[in-house]
Amino acid sequence: MSLHIDYDRYDRIRPIDWQGDHLRLLDQRRLPFEMSYLRCDSAAEVALAIRELVVRGAPAIGIAAAWGVVLAGQGIESADGAEAERRLAPQLEALNASRPTAVNLMWAIRRMRGALRAAGADWLAVIAAEAAAIAREDLAANRHMGRLGAALIAPGSGVLTHCNTGSLATAGFGTALGVIRAGVAEGRIARVYAGETRPWGQGARLTAWELQQDGIPPTLIADSAAAHLMKTGAVQWLIVGADRICANGDTANKIGTYAHAIAAKHHGVKVMVVAPASTVDMATPQGEAIEIELREARELLYAGGQRVVAEGVAAWNPVFDVTPAGLIDVIVTEKGLIERPDEARMRAVFAS
Ligand code: MRU
Repeated sequence: MSLHIDYDRYDRIRPIDWQGDHLRLLDQRRLPFEMSYLRCDSAAEVALAIRELVVRGAPAIGIAAAWGVVLAGQGIESADGAEAERRLAPQLEALNASRPTAVNLMWAIRRMRGALRAAGADWLAVIAAEAAAIAREDLAANRHMGRLGAALIAPGSGVLTHCNTGSLATAGFGTALGVIRAGVAEGRIARVYAGETRPWGQGARLTAWELQQDGIPPTLIADSAAAHLMKTGAVQWLIVGADRICANGDTANKIGTYAHAIAAKHHGVKVMVVAPASTVDMATPQGEAIEIELREARELLYAGGQRVVAEGVAAWNPVFDVTPAGLIDVIVTEKGLIERPDEARMRAVFAS
């Protein structure tokens, strides 16, 4: 099968735009009807933008936080990197705590601190280069994973994806959406279904729009239609991203992924998780140890700023869940495929 992917046609959106002395973030709260950018001049502004989902998606959160470290550095004078790291510690810890589940955030902050500690008098230039490298490596990983994942899909297949894992969630091209882009480009994927991803609507507002920009027509479904869709035989793969993959292959991703994976198992639909090595957390043994972010009830009680639930009703809003490794057919990373993941197979690729 020919393997030419026209990256200019597929993948034109960039959510994170470093301007040399400040950061511009495409405000994902306003998509798809408004393309506006939020300017950040400080680490605190980046932390708030992460918390409020201006920028979201595990790899994108990590990249934005890395630029947040550079912004923090611009605010101080210091003789060397080690001293700068000590002085910046409170700001870096605040960035680190801006969201709890996506491990790419902690990974990026750790990597930036390491670069800072090792740097001399030119520490500010060193950390700016490190942040740029994190973004560059993410884009390269996504393009590579796109090809690896697409190669597993038989021509003419239908796929279902959940949440948004595209250019909007990464440095570009996307993880699960990168596989879908590559699979469509190669003629393997004939039908793309996107779950709306209640309550925040990442699938409805972001993925459907992003695919449309590429000329890939998405079919939107209610999250609760997934099992019924699978029963019709229209989809052969469930393809999702990840916020944290544990040492045993258990995978945290957007709430609803677990239910989709259970339904997939029941219907013989294969499950593919696509994520870069920065999402793998070998220090967390299994899914029970992952902190699941709980967000405001308001996200459930309101739609488009309008209250849609009777006053006085309580709501519980966990925004991630854990899919056990046993429900996953393959994890695709830029370091290779892990089929039927378990701890031994994870360790073979990601020695701790
Ligand atoms: O709450 P979000 O929108 O940040 O959640 C995003 C997801 O769950 C994605 O599936 C995951 O981060 C992978 S993005 C490449």
